[in-house]
Amino acid sequence: MGKEEGVKDTSVSLKPTNQCKTFLPMRVLQVFLMLVVLALGISVVSMHMIKYLKIQNLAPTTLISKSDEITTLESFIKPPSSVWHSMNDSELLWLASMEPRRYEYPFKRVPKMAFMFLTKGPLPFAPLWERFFKGHEGFYSIYVHTLPDYKSDFPSSSVFYRRQIPSQHVAWGEMSMCEAERRLLANALLDISNEWFVLLSEACIPLRGFDFIYSYVSKSRYSFMGSADEDGPYGRGRYSYAMGPEVQLSQWRKGSQWFEINRELALYIVEDIIYYHKFKEFCRPPCYVDEHYFPTMLSIRYSHLLAKRTLTWTDWSKGGPHPTTFGKSVITEMFLKMIQEGQSCLYNDQTSQVCYLFARKFDPSALEPLLKLSPKVLGF
Ligand SMILES: *[C@@H]1O[C@H](CO)[C@@H](O)[C@H](O)[C@H]1NC(C)=O
Repeated sequence: MGKEEGVKDTSVSLKPTNQCKTFLPMRVLQVFLMLVVLALGISVVSMHMIKYLKIQNLAPTTLISKSDEITTLESFIKPPSSVWHSMNDSELLWLASMEPRRYEYPFKRVPKMAFMFLTKGPLPFAPLWERFFKGHEGFYSIYVHTLPDYKSDFPSSSVFYRRQIPSQHVAWGEMSMCEAERRLLANALLDISNEWFVLLSEACIPLRGFDFIYSYVSKSRYSFMGSADEDGPYGRGRYSYAMGPEVQLSQWRKGSQWFEINRELALYIVEDIIYYHKFKEFCRPPCYVDEHYFPTMLSIRYSHLLAKRTLTWTDWSKGGPHPTTFGKSVITEMFLKMIQEGQSCLYNDQTSQVCYLFARKFDPSALEPLLKLSPKVLGF
């Protein structure tokens, strides 16, 4: 019986082995599939983990290498196609304060103008600016700071496409305004070819064609930062003795928020920690910090490099805390000509009739007449 069973067994055991030949691959396949699913799951989770960790902790890796490998100089100096990044302010300002000390470039560096728009969100004069920039690729870069939640939707053909930088909340007349300006400067400094930095608002328009503006700024010996020693409650009256010894009353300056500065001054602003803390603490409304921080700290060290005037025309003649806003009805050829050449100032120490390259404030309704007049009057 044992034998029989044994035989039976073998026959029985033979059958399964025969079946095994068909079963085994199915089993293997099942196990294999389970492993594949498990591996996929693990890799998806770990990819997210890496991403998360990179943003949270591995910032230095993202800071130092623009691409994963730097094998050519080109890959290092080429600005990224999008200005979006995951750095916070301390990381950004630190990175932006790096600067080559060797001023003989081993490549052809075409100096560019960085146009930095400090806005709430929409750019009502975008069509005018598009026309202004057309045909001048390679000589400018654009950076837009908005309210943090604003999402712009420019088409890929627009000069503003993907030029929005990571932004934070801004309160009028407070330090957050200067912080936004420093954020714009720092982002623009990351592009090694940016040489001149212009701050503009959504209510600003260009008063001249691109070539004219590029030439005027690039040939200027001075940077256009207002810097006046003004008596009275709106000037020296805003100074606090707590700002000493770094800032003395005689060093206190006032200037327009809307500036144009070169790379050296932009770096000095971005690297500053001493004046920043003094102004943040002791210049609060009615001390409007955006009118004093940069003018004062630049005057202390770089007075000889400042034109001590702004390039942006503004009408303060009506008084009050805000300048006049101009709408559709006032935009005529005569009005624009008056802004363009109606005053006199110094340009490279010579008297000049061309004092302003930009103007504000304009209401969105001004766009239509401006587009009509720009070829004839503004030169673009
Ligand atoms: C930026 O991130 C770093 C690293 O996580 C942190 O040490 C630093 O305090 C952050 N700075 C700001 C302004 O949030």
